[in-house]
Amino acid sequence: MKIDISKASVDIKPLQAEVAAAQEKLDKGTGEGNDFIGWLHLPSEITESFLNEIEESAKVLRDNCEIVVVAGIGGSYLGARAVIEALSNSFDYLQTNRKAPVVLFAGQNLGEDYLADLIATLKGKKFGIINISKSGTTTETAVSFRLLKALLEKQEGKEGARKRIVAVTDKAKGALRTLSTQEGYKTFVIPDNVGGRFSVLTPVGLLPIAVAGFDIKKLVAGAVEMEKATASSVPFEQNPSAVYAAARNVLYRNGKSTEILINFCPKLHYFTEWWKQLYGESEGKDGKGIFPAGCDFTTDLHSMGQWIQEGQRIIFETGVTVAEPNEKVVIESDDDNLDGLNYLAGKRVDQVNKMAELGTLLAHTDGGVPNIKVEIPKLDEFNLGQLIYFFEKACGISGYVLGVNPFNQPGVEAYKKNMFALLEKPGYEEATKAIKARLGK
Ligand code: PA5
Repeated sequence: MKIDISKASVDIKPLQAEVAAAQEKLDKGTGEGNDFIGWLHLPSEITESFLNEIEESAKVLRDNCEIVVVAGIGGSYLGARAVIEALSNSFDYLQTNRKAPVVLFAGQNLGEDYLADLIATLKGKKFGIINISKSGTTTETAVSFRLLKALLEKQEGKEGARKRIVAVTDKAKGALRTLSTQEGYKTFVIPDNVGGRFSVLTPVGLLPIAVAGFDIKKLVAGAVEMEKATASSVPFEQNPSAVYAAARNVLYRNGKSTEILINFCPKLHYFTEWWKQLYGESEGKDGKGIFPAGCDFTTDLHSMGQWIQEGQRIIFETGVTVAEPNEKVVIESDDDNLDGLNYLAGKRVDQVNKMAELGTLLAHTDGGVPNIKVEIPKLDEFNLGQLIYFFEKACGISGYVLGVNPFNQPGVEAYKKNMFALLEKPGYEEATKAIKARLGK
């Protein structure tokens, strides 16, 4: 993985000392939120036997299910989806020669039609569930799990369902832990000191990724390499996470309050979603923080391109570039050339895409949009593992440079409190009265 800030118009040198101080806080565990930095050495601490245990559980689901539904939201959802979508065939659900179950997602919304469609899809199918919730009480996840569990038990009986359900949750706390113990489900623990958005390299991400048929050992190996490449002992300008954290903070201080993570590879759409949560929840607090946005190019050049080129100059772009696609598609010559495309004959689609990427870089930087480039050689487990850890480490450093606690998310509770009050959840009686009065009911 390489980072290039030469098109970002920033001098990061003045931030070197601040970045070093932020890194020291992380390394020594002296910063705010230091009870949630278990992710820092997670890659190098994961044992082979633990990865084997995850793979064994994944195999049970793979052997017994044609579909596995992963129920979770936020940090209990996005990392697994990011990696699975990045590595899967783009039309995965239509593949007939499958080696792994189709992985579907639930618990990431409360859309009744979404759940009705899912239930209808699962009826009569051999399916399994991975239920993921650290707190074990998240409403979206719990509602979907209740529905899915009921269907599974109806189709397979209690015993059959038990074989096809795995829970990933806290070691002791929460309704999901209690339920799993009572029902006798196989469980994996989310470590206390790893927050949701930093948990993709725990069973939260690793189990679904293994079920989908991908090599979690290579994913972790990539992360281990990045753990070394971003260690405090690495000189500032050679440490990609330090450089990225510094560059985005310089840009923020120069009025660039929105960062758009861009890609020219549609398989990275959910990677961007994962990144948005990582940076949004970590930095958006105390009235501060870069707004993390995302665009898939070239698709969004035809929708957001105008704004980016000529709108308010408060944005910068961070492009995740894949140097070499895994597949090869060549544009053929056509005798009639009615579409006028023969000038591209013999070229790979990626050559056209790369020129779109270069053209966009030139146009956007000309238009006053600084660009940070993050490049991986190809889309595979190892490089995704690197990318994940690179962004996590940079996020921890960047949050401390910004002056916030990057590891809490107090703002997420506000909507939940209102929702529980409105739904008259036991324990929320006072809040219910207050919210009804506020709404004039
Ligand atoms: O990053 C976070 O902490 C959140 O996004 C959580 O992952 C999300 O709210 C889901 O929480 P839980 O895993 O407790 O169901």
